[in-house]
Order: sequence, then structure tokens, then C-alpha cells
Amino acid sequence: MNTVVGLPALLPNLDAPSSSPSFDLVSSLDGLRSVLRPHLSTVVWRRPRERRLSSQVRSSLAEYAREGAGAIVVEGAPGSLSLEPIISALPQRSRSAVRTDIESLAASFAPLTGRDHVRIELSVVRGAGCRKLHVDYVGLRLLSTYVGAGTQWLEARDVCREHLGRADLDADENNELILRADGVLRETDCHDVVLFKGESFRGNGGRGAVHRSPPLAAGEQSRLLLKMDVAQCGC
Ligand SMILES: [Fe+2]
Repeated sequence: MNTVVGLPALLPNLDAPSSSPSFDLVSSLDGLRSVLRPHLSTVVWRRPRERRLSSQVRSSLAEYAREGAGAIVVEGAPGSLSLEPIISALPQRSRSAVRTDIESLAASFAPLTGRDHVRIELSVVRGAGCRKLHVDYVGLRLLSTYVGAGTQWLEARDVCREHLGRADLDADENNELILRADGVLRETDCHDVVLFKGESFRGNGGRGAVHRSPPLAAGEQSRLLLKMDVAQCGC
């Protein structure tokens, strides 16, 4: 059952007219907090070079993405949950950096959700993933790609919502109808961090962020994707 995620204390006086963009691009991890502004459904942290994983770690993770499979999930309160199931699966050279990165993101993400426990998933995505533009029936979701292309998303004004979830159309046909003729399909970069408000975020029904997995680039077999949600325990 989908749950409506509680809204932590909102930033004061930050509502905006409906003509305002539904997204924000921020330059710091702390800036992700702006997703709590009622008119925003998407916030992207364009990580600076020094906050990205090193080339050595990246090549190590690329190796894992080529050979690994499936998803590893942990749940709990940031600061006390064990990341071992995820970290121990990774090549030795990448473990410390990935641990630090996930801990830092989880510590920033959890307070935004209004819950104590988060669900963290690191997955090797093979094939095209979710090709149809869609909304998620969750509260708040964090995504960051460690290997491969980032996530594609639409600004709210570029979406024809009446065509979302058309089961009678294939992905290409449906996507063409969802994206307005003059709309822009936007894409995060690898290592960027994006926060999407889903349909279950309080007050966001009918306004969930529209997004999809990117098509794999030529020669690309898989991506390595980090995802955070509220934990299923509801704590
Ligand atoms: Fe999604």
C-alpha cells in the first residue's frame, strides 16, 4: 500500500506561483533541502569535481557494473544502519569512497523525508530499465548514478499528464505524447544527485516528478544506480 510521507517543517515563505519552474539546480548537498518547497518536484545537485568519486573508484565500479547483477538493499536509521551488504559486494578499491558517499547522502536525505529510517538500494541495471516516462508512487526518492548515464526527467510544464501510464501504447509512443511538442527531456549527469517528489508526498498528488531510465549508450551494458526511499517499516 502506498503511504503518504509526512512533511517535515517546510522552509518558510517559499511557495511560488504556478508559473515558477518545478525544479531547482543546487550547488551543494545542503541545497537539496529546497525540495521541501511546495512548488518544486525535482532538485538536482550538480556535484562539483571534488565531490565526485575519483577516476580510480569509478573504474573499479565500472568493473562491478559489468560483472555484477541485481540489487542490494539495506534499511535503517542513517548513522546506525549497516552498509556492509552493499559495501562488501564492491571491489576493494571502491569501498571506502562509496561508504563515505552513501553515509553522507543518507544523512542528508533522511531528515527531508520526515521519517527516521531509509531504504538504500544499489543496483546494477541491465537493459533499458524503465523506458516509459512515469511518476513514482512514493514520497521522496533520491537517485544517483555511479556508472553510466544519469536519469532523464521533465519539468512539470513539459508534461501532458493525461497520457501518463497509457497501457495501450509502447514506450516510444507513450513518451512522445507525454512530452509536450516544445518540451525538453532533461538528464542528470553521472554522479549528480536528484531528488524527486513522488505522488505520495503530502500535497503532491497529481504532480509527481516525471522521469525515466535513459537508453543505454552505444557499447554500454549496464548502469550502477544508487536509490534511497523511506524504509518499508514506516519508522
Ligand atoms: Fe521511477
